[in-house]
Amino acid sequence: MSQSTPEETAPYGSGPAPVAAARRRIRTHHLREMKERGEKFAMLTSYDMYTAAAFDDAGIEVLLVGDSASNNVLGNETSIPITVDELLPLTRAVSRAAQHALVVGDLPFGSYQRSPEQAYDTAVRFMKEGGAHCVKLEGGAEMTGQIELLTRGGIPVMAHIGFTPQSEHALGGYRVQGRGETAQRILADAKAIEAAGAFAVVMEMVPGEVAAEVTKQLSIPTIGIGAGNGCDAQVLVWQDAFGLRTGKMARFVKQYADVHAVLTDGAQKYAAEVRSGAFPGPEHTF
Ligand code: KIV
Repeated sequence: MSQSTPEETAPYGSGPAPVAAARRRIRTHHLREMKERGEKFAMLTSYDMYTAAAFDDAGIEVLLVGDSASNNVLGNETSIPITVDELLPLTRAVSRAAQHALVVGDLPFGSYQRSPEQAYDTAVRFMKEGGAHCVKLEGGAEMTGQIELLTRGGIPVMAHIGFTPQSEHALGGYRVQGRGETAQRILADAKAIEAAGAFAVVMEMVPGEVAAEVTKQLSIPTIGIGAGNGCDAQVLVWQDAFGLRTGKMARFVKQYADVHAVLTDGAQKYAAEVRSGAFPGPEHTF
């Protein structure tokens, strides 16, 4: 690769950093084959090009441009307010930057529940305008019409059952789903989704033994979040996993880094040098 002079280097970033070598794109069939081989895979949320490139370089198999951008990027309290038009540009940024990962576009609340046709129209936008490789929607047996139409129309679907954040108000708040007798409903939902053609299913806040049983009974991969260690894969919201968000976390979150501390430390050092006149130095001056 040719070296650029400092003057030629774009000052504020001008697109995703070049990826070292072309790697294989993860496809939905790879995830299924991993399940068959008993290999687990990792999914993270991503909402911008730099985290997408970093997670892609780290070998994360699946990037979800989640509607959780609503409360992790846009400052809303829940995932409910985010719109298709708000989520599409974030999806486009991630799909442009990810060279390797499967990119999942998350259909926002109200953009697919009304009918399979509504779901199809929205999913097409995520594929065409967002560059997503597949879409995710929330719901179990009641979503089979949507899943069938999308799958028939060439759009791979990841389903999401258990606690479904878009239905927070209908479910009575953040609660574990599938305890006791309702475990059978989780299993029935999972089987209905698989039969309808979904290629994977997220299970959120489901008892570990229920999620493990669903995983055993399905041939498509299960992706857990607060669903124990018996799933085929795991997903976390990156701001939780790497500590950009501070405060009380859900029990299922494990923090692997402290990005908030790195950023505040860097910002304090920068501000101190600006105030003292140490920055910019002669080497930063034309
Ligand atoms: O939007 C999101 O981040 C999600 C994950 C919690 C699975 O749906």
